This record gives sequence, structure tokens and C-alpha cells, in this order.
Amino acid sequence: MKRFFRLIFSASMPLIVFLMGSNNIPSLRELADKKGLLLGTCVMPNYLDEDMYVKTLLANFNIITPENHMKWGLIHPERNKYNWDGADKIVNFAEKNNLKVRGHTLVWHNQNPNWINEIKTKEEALNVLKEHIYTVVGRYKGKIYAWDVVNEVIDDYGNFRNSIWYQLCKEEYIDKAFQWAREADPNAKLFINDYNIEPINRKSDALYNYCKDAIKRGVPIDGVGFQFHIQGDIEPNYESIRKNMKRFIELGLEVHITEIDVRLPSLKPSKEQLELQGKIYRRLLELALEFDKARVFIFWGLTDRYSWVPHFFKGWGSALIFDENYQPKPAFYSILEVLQEK
Ligand code: XIL
Repeated sequence: MKRFFRLIFSASMPLIVFLMGSNNIPSLRELADKKGLLLGTCVMPNYLDEDMYVKTLLANFNIITPENHMKWGLIHPERNKYNWDGADKIVNFAEKNNLKVRGHTLVWHNQNPNWINEIKTKEEALNVLKEHIYTVVGRYKGKIYAWDVVNEVIDDYGNFRNSIWYQLCKEEYIDKAFQWAREADPNAKLFINDYNIEPINRKSDALYNYCKDAIKRGVPIDGVGFQFHIQGDIEPNYESIRKNMKRFIELGLEVHITEIDVRLPSLKPSKEQLELQGKIYRRLLELALEFDKARVFIFWGLTDRYSWVPHFFKGWGSALIFDENYQPKPAFYSILEVLQEK
């Protein structure tokens, strides 16, 4: 009995406090639905066992992206072996709760299994890619709203990234990946996704040129994913971002904001820092909503409790709209206010 009380009053204390206050916290989902906006977060399968996580997710979002479990290393760990557990759990959860899913990602240079490095010829590479895309896209046919068919295929200098796929196939693998994804699920929207391509710069120029030519060649590409992993201590160049979105949209493409997080240079940010972060989120959502073809806005994480930022950017953190105890931050209220605007 004593142990029971100790448990209740220590570990779950923040939880109880939040649950009591939870009625006062507005939720975003209904407002997003009304605006025709898909608002979301990436998820890991084990988070879906946590009540507080699920509750916050369902109150606020209408789309999710598997953070890691559709990546090649996890879903196709050996040449003749797929592991569907994590991805299935996420897709089933989405179906059950009426959420859309962005599939992420079919071709990347990171988080690949070692056996990929044994591929030696172009023919073998294309065969392996085709089999992978047919199998993964085929399994989730009809259940995925949009696929990040290829991820980060342009390098920081604006050249095609020198991945194993590029070394063996040049850019032909990108065209082919889109064709195979379209064949495997004709109703999924197909995206090319990348980071540091949000404003106009040499990387977004290169991506733009690829898209323009690919469309002319008849490659079935529906849109561009702007990851938006950005820093929150300075404001981005909104005008340049607007121009960039506009030029992709004028090619007939959609723009999805696929992985936004606005990281702060501190794990214990000040009020001012949090307010500037809120302002950046607000301006970026407003900017996206200027375009009918930019109606997807996905955070790369729901709570600062689970975020890749502190692990990948030393000294940076607090990048999301809920804090580590699922409390809404100023950025949450910025998003709320934008969604409440007429
Ligand atoms: C990150 C995940 O968040 C981490 O958990 C993982 O360890 C590494 O990958 N661009 C992408 C995402 O397209 O897949 C990455 O996700 C973040 C950068």
C-alpha cells in the first residue's frame, strides 16, 4: 500500500496535475480540420503506449509520420527480410483514429542496412530499389496519404548527393523511384523531401531544376517536402521562403512542411527565446496558409521530451510546441491563434 502511494505521488504527479488542467488547454485538431490543414507530428511506435502522448496527439493532430520505422534499416534489415512491426503499429493506430499518414522514406543515404553496400552494379541497384518500393508501398497501398519517395538527394553544394544510389545509377534512380511508387500505389502523393531548401539558395535552385526537368520528362512527382529544421534564435528570411514556395507551386507541385522544428540555443530557454520561437512558428504557418497548395504542416516531434534535436545539435533543444511535461509553450498558442484567424 505504502509503495502504491509513493508511486502515485511521485512518478505520476506531473501527469495528475496536467490531467486536471487539461480541460483548459484548447486543442488544435478541429481548427486544423476546419481550415483544411493537415497538422501533424512524427511518431515512434512505443510512444503510442503512453496515455499522455496519445491524448495530446489525438487532441491536436490529424496526420502522423513514422519517425524511423519506415526507413530502410528498420523495415528491410536483410536482403530477404522485412520487419513490419513498428510501421504496422503506426499505420493501424492512424486508421483506428482517423489520422492520415505520410510515408517516410523509400530512398535515403542514411539509416540503411549494411547489406546495401554490397550492391555492385547499376542493374542490381535498380532491381533492389524496385523490389523494395513495390513491397513497402504495396503493403500500405491506400493507407498512405503521401510518400517521401526520395529524401535528401541534393547535397549542400547543390549537386546530386554522392550516395550509393547515385554512384551506381546517376539521377536515373530518382526518376525510377517515382515511377515505381506511382505504380505500386497510384493514389498516394509522391514527394521529394529535403532540408535547407526552404529559402532560395543553391540547394533549392538545384532541387527546383531537377523538379522542372523531371516534370518535363513525365516523372510522376506531386510535391516537394520542406523539412524546416531551423534555428530559433534568428528569424528566417520569410520573403525568400515565400518566393521559393511560390516557384515550386508554379511548377504545379504541392509544398508540404514535413519535419518542422525551431530549435533554441539552450535547454532551459528564457521567456524571450520562447516568444521569438512562437513568432517564427506563427509567421511560417501563416506563410504556408497563403497558398492553397501548402496545406500540410508537420512538427518533427510532439513534445520536447522526445525530440531528436538535443541529440543531433549539441547545446540546442526545446524545439517543439509542447514542453517535456506536455505543457503548451508560447509556440502552441501562436499556432492556435493562426488557426483561429478567419
Ligand atoms: C531523424 C530521427 O528523428 C532520429 O530519431 C534518427 O535517429 C535520425 O533521423 N531528416 C529526416 C528525418 O528526413 O528522417 C530525420 O529523422 C531528421 C532529419
